[in-house]
Parts: sequence; C-alpha cells; structure tokens
Amino acid sequence: MTRITVDNISKRFDKQAVLQELSLVIEDGSLFTLLGPSGCGKTTLLRCIAGFHQPDSGRLLFNDEEITGVPAYERNIGMVFQDYALFPDKSVYDNVAYGLRARKLAREAVDTRTLEALEQVGLKALQARLPAQLSGGQRQRVALARALVIKPRVLLMDEPLSNLDAKLRLSMRDLILDLQRATRITTVFVTHDQEEALALSDQIAVMQSGRVAQLGTPQSLYATPRSAYVADFIGSANLLPVTVSAAGRVGLADTVLAVDTGAFEAGSSGQLVLRPEALQLLAAGTAVVAAGSNQIAARITRRLYLGAKTTFRIQVAGGHELRVEDSGIATFQVGDEVLLRVPAGSLVVAS
Ligand SMILES: Nc1ncnc2c1ncn2[C@@H]1O[C@H](COP(=O)(O)OP(=O)(O)OP(=O)(O)O)[C@@H](O)[C@H]1O
Ligand SMILES: [Mg+2]
Repeated sequence: MTRITVDNISKRFDKQAVLQELSLVIEDGSLFTLLGPSGCGKTTLLRCIAGFHQPDSGRLLFNDEEITGVPAYERNIGMVFQDYALFPDKSVYDNVAYGLRARKLAREAVDTRTLEALEQVGLKALQARLPAQLSGGQRQRVALARALVIKPRVLLMDEPLSNLDAKLRLSMRDLILDLQRATRITTVFVTHDQEEALALSDQIAVMQSGRVAQLGTPQSLYATPRSAYVADFIGSANLLPVTVSAAGRVGLADTVLAVDTGAFEAGSSGQLVLRPEALQLLAAGTAVVAAGSNQIAARITRRLYLGAKTTFRIQVAGGHELRVEDSGIATFQVGDEVLLRVPAGSLVVAS
C-alpha cells in the first residue's frame, strides 16, 4: 500500500538541469507511466524514486513517510531494466531467489516464494537454465519475477519492453498488466512509446525537458491535450496554425471554422488539433459547402492503402498538408478535389 509523492524535485548533472521543480503524485496500487522523448529525464526521475540518485532539492514520500535520504536498499523497491541486468553466472532459480536470500529468509520460504514467482511468469520449467540460454522475452520474465518475488512496496520499470520484438512486446505488456492488476503493487513504468503508455496506464505524466507537460488518464490526454507538444506525443495529430476570430471560431486561409477555442481570446493564435481518424473526406461534387458546415476544399496528394484502413495526405487552402485516415470505404485517388469536414469539437491548443 504505497502512494508515491514527488514534491518539487530538482536534479542537475554538471550545469544541465535535468529535473526542474517536478511534482507529481502516484496513487497507491496504480500503474503510472512516465512518457517522453529521449533525454527528458524519465530515467533520472525513476532513479531518484529508487534511491540510486539523490535529488538536489525537493522531497520524496512513500505515503506520509519522507524517504528522500533513505538509501536504495532500505526502500524495498523492485526494479526491472531495459537490458534485464540478470546475474549471468546464476541460474534462473538463483536469480529469482537472490533477493530473498539477501533478506535472510528461511530456506523453505525462499523455495516456496521463488517457485511461486517463476510460476507467475511461466518459467518454472526453465529454472535450471542460465540467462544466456534464454530468449530476450524469457530473460525479461526472469527480471520481472526477481523484482516481484520480494513483494516490493513499489515496482519500477525502465523501458522493459524496448529490447523485444513487436509481437513479444504485446504479450509481455499483457503479462505486466495481469501481474500488476493481481498484485496491485504501485508501479512506475518508463517508456517513450505512446501506444505502450496508452495501453497500460491508469495515469500518464507526459514529460518535457525535466518537467511534467501534462498529467492525466490516457483518455483525458488524448481528448484534451493542453499543448501542441502533448497533442503530438499522445496519438497522432495534425497541427494547424490558426487565429481565433471569436469565441468558438477560427480563421484558416479564407474559411471560418467552428471549433472548441477554450479560453483563447479573439485575436490570439494557437494550433488547431485535428486527429487523422476524426477527419472525414467528401467528394467535392456531391456535398454542398454551406456556411458553418465546417468544410474546407482540399486535394488528395497521396494515398496509402494499409489493408484495414487507407491513409491520405491532403492539401488544404493555405497550402497546409494534413493526414486523414479512412477505414476503407473511400475510393479517392491522388489529384481528386475533395472537401474536408472538420469536427466541431476540434481543440485549439497553445503552440
Ligand atoms: N549520470 C549522469 N551524468 C551526467 N548527465 C546525465 C547522467 N544521467 C543522465 N544525464 C543526462 O540527463 C538527461 C536526462 O537523462 P535521462 O537518462 O533521465 O533521460 P531519459 O528520458 O531516460 O532518456 P532515454 O529515453 O534516452 O532513456 C540527458 O541529457 C542525460 O545526458
Ligand atoms: Mg532512460
């Protein structure tokens, strides 16, 4: 039962500010993801939580207990790394049993819990093997068993799936989710893969240069990103520079569109977020361009047939290029003149 509080933490390496007054709360029993591009500080924050790094300022709490100065080995943390970090000369069994033996548990208890953890990750049959005799996915399952066997307060995972091929990644993702749901250990998961983050997380913190750009559930980040950075990082987005002409109205070239301008005032500029899968193409001849119909003239410049869907690149008035996804019924070809229908709920966000 552990809620993690990161309170105003800063961390520098030499002159570089890697974490900047960062605060967040990770609820007890949740699966929380730190998501962001390479170098934004994900691993540094995870290592601060683990106790491998000491923040320069700020506090860390497990529930109401401050653990800022507590050494890593007293925090009761389970950790899984991208490169597995198994002991190469120890068997699968001994790798998993290691943490229990270090805690001086009785022999029978070590055996029972080790076998139970191996069972959980489906590796009981391979317990006598050395890490070198395992596949990447099997190694990562050993690492997971080794982290869970000690019944940690907190499970920390740093890009645990990135060395696995696409198919294995999906099955490991399911296993992690199953184990987290079964154990309800508060889990912090680091990734730069937005799909992984969306699929796994109760909450996601999108990080940008050592700060939290936005924190929320997968659904809320997708539906209501606060900035172009978040809109672009979660899902995929076309971002169109627009000027707000009035509340609920933006101008794009010589068209006025009815969209969600939120708190933007008339005269301010922002980026209109258009999700490729929310856009609709109509044949130019068949639809009527009525005022307020939220349609813009466009031309197909590329067509990518992908089986389950077709992706188009279109050029709209003003010269901007957009991506549009269609679930397969559209028969448009490159060069066709079309109309783009913009959903009225489309959001304007900060640049
Ligand atoms: N021990 C260190 N000494 C000096 N600089 C460091 C150290 N660790 C990290 N950095 C720097 O801090 C920044 C953030 O690094 P960090 O490893 O936290 O990023 P990350 O978000 O995990 O990136 P990635 O997705 O590539 O793993 C980087 O610019 C990195 O070079
Ligand atoms: Mg990292």
